[in-house]
Amino acid sequence: MVKIAPSILSADFSNLETEIRRLEQAGADMIHLDVMDGHFVPNLTFGAPLVKSLRPHTGLPFDTHLMVDNPDMMIPWFAEAGSDIITIHAEAATHLDRTLDMIRSLGCQAGVSLTPSTPESVLEYVWDKIDLVLVMTVNPGFGGQTFIASQLEKIARIKSCCEGREIMIEADGGINPHTAAQCIAAGADILVAGTAVFADGDYAGNIEALR
Ligand code: DX5
Ligand code: ZN
Repeated sequence: MVKIAPSILSADFSNLETEIRRLEQAGADMIHLDVMDGHFVPNLTFGAPLVKSLRPHTGLPFDTHLMVDNPDMMIPWFAEAGSDIITIHAEAATHLDRTLDMIRSLGCQAGVSLTPSTPESVLEYVWDKIDLVLVMTVNPGFGGQTFIASQLEKIARIKSCCEGREIMIEADGGINPHTAAQCIAAGADILVAGTAVFADGDYAGNIEALR
């Protein structure tokens, strides 16, 4: 069954402890943490101290999505803060192979994210170093954007590249019950959702609708 990773980007930032407890009770499979640096993306969110402060409040895996220009500097901070998966952007990594090694050497699973215009071919020589591919189905930076349908083909292509390997495919951005079904059909294993989970306060119903 597909896993649902709610993004706390759409949560009430003044009540994050309560929010992640509610997400856990509502059946979330992991917590998606959108880290934005104001350089790689035109928005700024939070850093490792916040992730560390949330760590004791849930047993769910922390799925950290680094939308930052200098991942090599920040990866150790987020590993130490309790991330289970650390995903960096292929577009931001100067030496992607080395950066993936670094994530695994710190005991985390290694993810690579591709923005909508980046082809999956950039992963050709690093498949054996990847635990997760995050396909951005919007341009990174903001919640509440419209799903970019061209990314369904990319998900399907990555699915076929991953055959015989234990690599998870995650879709992130513009996920609602309709686009969730399309992503699942294309081969996604994990769906990230902000707006669709937090919309009307019925976290459990919204998560169930995405599955
Ligand atoms: C965008 C983030 C997403 C986003 C998802 O840069 O990576 O995780 O918050 O939000 P919705 O579900 O609102 O598109
Ligand atoms: Zn994200």
